[in-house]
Amino acid sequence: MIERTFVMIKPDSIVRGLIGEVLGRLEKKGLKIVGMRMIHMSEAQANNLYAVHLEKPFFKDLVGFIRSAPVVVLAVEGESVVTVVRRVIGATDAKEALPGTVRGDLSCSKSMNVIHASDSLENAQKELSIFFTDSDLMKYSRLDANWVC
Ligand code: CMP
Repeated sequence: MIERTFVMIKPDSIVRGLIGEVLGRLEKKGLKIVGMRMIHMSEAQANNLYAVHLEKPFFKDLVGFIRSAPVVVLAVEGESVVTVVRRVIGATDAKEALPGTVRGDLSCSKSMNVIHASDSLENAQKELSIFFTDSDLMKYSRLDANWVC
């Protein structure tokens, strides 16, 4: 089934000059970027995105980190894209993430772990709605659509 998910290239990637590397991993996998914007996240957006972690001891640091530099927010479309992107990015704790995954190749940190992606279709819809309206999202076909996925 064609799905959409929310992906965010985190501040550590931005300041390390890794936007192209991270975007390239998603594009080369055959996923379609249908929305993309660089923003400095507001406190309200950060609280909303990470509401599920509100009671966690790391919540304040998480919001501080995510607002410490710009992020790139993405809407990504593809067959079973929620699951596919989670596999491409690897485990949350980058020390545990397998080589070949984005986090496994580019980080050793649990907090500064390069990239975020929604963990379910339900959360994808919620997280996309924080940053995008339907009219922000692009309609086009990738020329390699029948060759990659
Ligand atoms: P992310 O995919 O953005 O979703 C929530 C984030 O919280 C997660 O990636 C980690 O960066 C962060 N996180 C999860 N657990 C911890 C933890 N124990 N300490 C610090 N940060 C954490």
